[in-house]
Amino acid sequence: MSDIILGIETSCDDTAIALVNSNGEVLSSVVSSQVDIHSEYGGIYPEHAARAHIHTILPTIDLAFKKAGVKPQNIEAIGVTRGPGLISSLLVGLNTAVGLGMGWNKKVIGINHLRGHLRSADLEQQRVKYPATILLVSGGHTFLAYMKDINDISILGTTRDDSVGETYDKVGRMLGLAYPGGPAVDRLAKEGNPNIAFPRPLLNSKFEFSFSGLKSAVSRFLAANPDALQADVAASFVQAVMDVLIKKSHNALKNYRSKSFVIVGGVAASPQLRQQAEKLCNKMKVELCLPPLKWSTDNAAMIALATWDYIKLNIHKEPIAQLQLPIFEF
Ligand SMILES: Nc1ncnc2c1ncn2[C@@H]1O[C@H](COP(=O)(O)OP(=O)(O)OP(=O)(O)O)[C@@H](O)[C@H]1O
Ligand SMILES: [Mg+2]
Repeated sequence: MSDIILGIETSCDDTAIALVNSNGEVLSSVVSSQVDIHSEYGGIYPEHAARAHIHTILPTIDLAFKKAGVKPQNIEAIGVTRGPGLISSLLVGLNTAVGLGMGWNKKVIGINHLRGHLRSADLEQQRVKYPATILLVSGGHTFLAYMKDINDISILGTTRDDSVGETYDKVGRMLGLAYPGGPAVDRLAKEGNPNIAFPRPLLNSKFEFSFSGLKSAVSRFLAANPDALQADVAASFVQAVMDVLIKKSHNALKNYRSKSFVIVGGVAASPQLRQQAEKLCNKMKVELCLPPLKWSTDNAAMIALATWDYIKLNIHKEPIAQLQLPIFEF
């Protein structure tokens, strides 16, 4: 058996390719970003995303092999994101994987993108101690999960509407900030005071989230108070998001015995979230586990690592033909 997986990730706007060995060591990881293409629209334009993937995918795969000094015949299998994501973008990755798999005579394993995010904290180094509580806060999803171990994942609660990342991006747009809004809102928030009382939606639900009401509250406030300090609006919005995320994470840690508290997904880059999570973990005497920033946003190394789980645990239950599994079936 060879020791290398080729990971392919095209669920959204990044063409990401990686080669990862069975210890989680990343031999190469190449991400071809499409931010320049989509920034003029203030969000992802799916048709452009799929077309850009078609142009970049084969050169990006070539580059990843060159950087790792590996030949295709030396890989064990190909792991490819099978969803959730933009269907036209997913199809580019899936068809490329299937074609290469047939040509190279390698197995192709379809991987749930969110399982990839959940496993991202163990790239390059085993960081997570199980059982673990995981907060996933990405551009398209928000949920709390409990992992007894790598193959035993329960979703505790998810958002009923917008994700945290999406809410940041939309509030960023309301404030006239460049896309993606998350990092820009965070930067602006540091200069302001959280003195506006925005709602903390669903604060009384243990694990469920909702963010669309908060987004509307920010929009209504800006319409009624055009002269308000933008930094104060950003700071108050971020504080409201943090209060919700930390309260529900606290609920999870109180109810589910955990050795690690893990935050994955793009919003894990938020310095405010990192700071408040650290306080929470000190209080709950749990180890805070944050993947390096480059593994928080989309990458193919996490998809390759999740593929190793399937191979090592001998559960090839997701052949490429079964693409219609529900989103949360890991
Ligand atoms: N410092 C930050 N503070 C808050 N949000 C941030 C920060 N940096 C990035 N983000 C947000 O993270 C999101 C992107 O995260 P990610 O790449 O994990 O999402 P995605 O992969 O597109 O979504 P999904 O995995 O759900 O399909 C964007 O919404 C972006 O605004
Ligand atoms: Mg993602």
